[in-house]
Amino acid sequence: MHKFFANSLFIGKKLQYLPHCHSTNKVAAELLTKSNPPEGMVVLTENQTAGKGQRGNHWESEPGKNLTFSIILYPNLLLIKDQFYLNMIISLGVADALKTELGIDVKVKWPNDILVNDKKISGILIENALRSTAIEHAIVGIGLNVNQTMFPVEKATSMAELTLMNYDLNNVFNQVIQSIEKYYLLIRSGDLKRIKQAYLSNLYWINEVHLFESDGVFSGQIVDIDDGGKLVVESNQQRDAYDIKEISFLK
Ligand code: BTN
Repeated sequence: MHKFFANSLFIGKKLQYLPHCHSTNKVAAELLTKSNPPEGMVVLTENQTAGKGQRGNHWESEPGKNLTFSIILYPNLLLIKDQFYLNMIISLGVADALKTELGIDVKVKWPNDILVNDKKISGILIENALRSTAIEHAIVGIGLNVNQTMFPVEKATSMAELTLMNYDLNNVFNQVIQSIEKYYLLIRSGDLKRIKQAYLSNLYWINEVHLFESDGVFSGQIVDIDDGGKLVVESNQQRDAYDIKEISFLK
């Protein structure tokens, strides 16, 4: 028997535990082609050997130390034009759970990296399948560094590194899924305004002057997210919206 059990309303009620797998997002995608997994089904592994990250990167996670899982959702109330709201609620769910567990400030770096003290503690990869006007299904992949304390990259951290404590993975998993559930219900109730306000108030570098790069280095401040989920940065009294590939954060 594995140690994972979901104490939630619907996320993780059906849970496929794999001692190891290539990528939980890929396993979830395979499930969707073969069957009709229920809303909230989770695929979770303790040893992910080929984790997928954003922009074609890999997600590395030490076996048995962290959470690596994917949630299958059918956010069919969400129009394609509003699909970034799913990124917002997942990021907020993870960030809120971490605030509760750690008791320290947690930020969401656009579009959906979770940072503590400028270091990444969690990464999120959402893969949407679109129908004509709505999202048919979404695979929400979450990697959260829990008990790992050595990292190949400098800009990574974990719950254990921050607090010098060892965490029960099932407890942390439950905090995260319950928190995501709470925000997901806001989508179902149509309260998109509240979601956007919460996202902006947790956003890394919001309303602060920093250096960015996009066709050259410039100084500006993040002021908003537009309806398509682009980052709105103001520089020299002019506002421009950037896609993920169009801008990098410098310092
Ligand atoms: C990022 O680049 O920040 C996103 C990382 C997402 C990693 C998670 S781990 C569980 C799920 N399965 C994957 O293959 N990737 C996601």
